[in-house]
Amino acid sequence: MSPTLAPSPAYRIAPSILAADFARLGDEVRQVLAAGADWIHFDVMDNHYVPNLSFGPMVCQALLPHAVTPAGQPAPIDVHLMVQPVDALAQAFAQAGARYISFHPDASTHAHRSVQAIRAAGCQPGLVFNPAQPLDVLDWLIDDIDLILIMSVNPGFGGQGFIDSALRKIEAARRRIDASGRDIRLQVDGGIKPANIRLAADAGADTFVAGSAIFGQPDYAAVIRQMRQELEKQ
Ligand code: DX5
Ligand code: ZN
Repeated sequence: MSPTLAPSPAYRIAPSILAADFARLGDEVRQVLAAGADWIHFDVMDNHYVPNLSFGPMVCQALLPHAVTPAGQPAPIDVHLMVQPVDALAQAFAQAGARYISFHPDASTHAHRSVQAIRAAGCQPGLVFNPAQPLDVLDWLIDDIDLILIMSVNPGFGGQGFIDSALRKIEAARRRIDASGRDIRLQVDGGIKPANIRLAADAGADTFVAGSAIFGQPDYAAVIRQMRQELEKQ
C-alpha cells in the first residue's frame, strides 16, 4: 500500500466496517487504521428501526484488540446505533469497549435519559439525525453530548447516494455547535467519497464516515490520502 499523510488534527476519517469483509473483520480494522483512518465506525442495525441486520456488542468486543494504530495507540470505536429501543444495547456497547455511542433520538422514548446513561457508562454520547429529521432536540440536549451525526442517506444500507439537503443540515448543526461553545464533533454519514468530502467539510463537518468508498477499493491508504488531500486544499 502507498504511504499515508499525517493525520489532520482538525478532521477525522471514520471508515464504516459495514462495507468491510466480514470473514476477516479483525484484519480489516487493523489494515484500515494502518492506512491512516482515525476512528472505526460500527453500524449496528436491528431489523426493526432499520430494515437490515448487522452486528452486536460481542463483535465489538472481539474487535477491540484489533482497534489499534500502527503505533500501538487504541483507536476510538464509534458505535452508531440504528436500534429501537436504545438503552439496553447502549449499555452493552459501553461494556464492549465503545468510545462514542450515538443513537437516533426518535428511537428512544427518553432521549435525555439515554444520553445520561451513555455518559454514566463512561462513553461519549452522540445524537443522529435522519434526512427528514429536524434538529430541534438539540435545543435541549446540546450541552450533554459530544457528537452530532448528520445522516446523508437513509439509515440501513451502505452504498447509497449522498442526499444534498444534508449540507444545509450540517450548516445548521455547525451554527448550533458554535453557539454552544462546546467541543462537539460534527459527523456526516452516507455516500461520502473523495469527490464530495470537501463539500461536507465546507458546510461544517469535521468527522467523515465512509464505508464503500474505502472498503470498496483495493488500496485503503490511497482513498484516505485522497480524502485528506481534498480536505487540505486551499
Ligand atoms: C448507513 C450507515 C452508514 C453506511 C455508510 O445506515 O450508517 O455508516 O455504512 O456507507 P457508505 O459510505 O457506503 O454510504
Ligand atoms: Zn453509520
